[in-house]
Amino acid sequence: MVDLSVRIAGVEFPNPVIAASGTYGNGECYTDLYPLSKLGGVSCKGMTIEPKLGNPPPRIAETYSGILNSVGLQNIGVHGFIEYYLPTLKEEGNVIIANVAGAVIDDYIAAAEALDASDIDMIELNISCPNVKQGGASWGVSCEGAAAVTSAVRRATKKPLIVKLTPNVTDITSIAKAVEAEGADCISLINTLLGMRIDINSRRPILKNNMGGMSGPAVFPVAVRMVWQCFNAVKIPIIGMGGISTWEDAIEMMLAGATAIQMGTAIFTDPYAPLKVIEGIEEYMDKNGIKSLSEIVGQVKPW
Ligand SMILES: Cc1cc2nc3c(=O)[nH]c(=O)nc-3n(C[C@H](O)[C@H](O)[C@H](O)COP(=O)(O)O)c2cc1C
Repeated sequence: MVDLSVRIAGVEFPNPVIAASGTYGNGECYTDLYPLSKLGGVSCKGMTIEPKLGNPPPRIAETYSGILNSVGLQNIGVHGFIEYYLPTLKEEGNVIIANVAGAVIDDYIAAAEALDASDIDMIELNISCPNVKQGGASWGVSCEGAAAVTSAVRRATKKPLIVKLTPNVTDITSIAKAVEAEGADCISLINTLLGMRIDINSRRPILKNNMGGMSGPAVFPVAVRMVWQCFNAVKIPIIGMGGISTWEDAIEMMLAGATAIQMGTAIFTDPYAPLKVIEGIEEYMDKNGIKSLSEIVGQVKPW
C-alpha cells in the first residue's frame, strides 16, 4: 500500500490534490458528482471582507490550450462564506483553505481576523489583486508589497498561512524569500499570467476588463519553472499549480519541488480530472516502489 498523504504546516492532507481557488466555487457545484472528501483539499473562491459583484461580462475568453478570465473576485464576503459555506465544507471535505484578497492592508487584516475565529484549516493569501493605494499594481509584484501584506496577516492570525504568488514578476525567487521572511508557512504558485485578446472585427478586447489572467495547459511549463526556482530558494513547502491536467503533470510538478498540487482550469473540461490524477499518482507510486511522496518532491536531476 502506498501512502498518498502529505503534511504542510502541520496540516495533514489525505492526498496531494487540491481544487484551485476560483475554479471550484465553494464546492457546491461538485457535491452531486462525488464526495468532496475524495480530494486532499479545497481552496475556496477568493473572498474579500465585503461581498463583491465582480467585473462586467464577458469575463472569460478562450485561448490556445487555456483560458483568460477577469471574474474580478465575485464573492459573498468573508462573513457570508463563514455562515453559509464553511459548515458544509467542513462536514464534507478534508482540508478547507480560505483564499483571501484585499484592496488595502486593513481588508486583509479584517478578513484574516474573522477567519481566525472560524473553523477554517488554512488561509491562502491571494496577493495578485491590485493594491489601490499604490496605483493598482498588484501586491505580489514587489517584495515590499508582498512582505507588507504577509506580515500584517501573520500578526492577525495563528492559522497556517499560504501565500499565493503571482507569476507576473521578473524574479519570483525574491518574492518567495520576502514572504518566507515575514512568516509564510507555505507558498503556492502560480496564479494566472496577465494576458489580452482582441476581436479583430469590432477591434474591441474580448474581455470587458480589457485584460485578464491566463490559465490552463499552456501555462504549465512556466509554472514548473517557477516552482523549481522557488524550491531552490526557500525552505518552506510549495503547493504547485498552473495548467496541471493529468497525473503525469502532477508528478512532474512534484519533481520540480511541489509538496502538493492544485488543479483549476482542467476541472472546467472534466470535473472528474482531480480524481483521475489521484488514481494515476497512486499507480505511479505503486509501479515505481515509492512509499511516500516525500521521496519525489524536488527530485528532478538538473543537467
Ligand atoms: C475563472 C478563474 C477564477 C479564479 N479565481 C481565483 C481566485 O479567486 N483566487 C485566486 O487566488 N486564484 C484564482 N484563480 C487562479 C487559479 O486558482 C490558479 O492559480 C490558476 O488558474 C492556474 O491554475 P490552472 O491552470 O490549473 O487553472 C482563478 C482562475 C480561474 C480560471
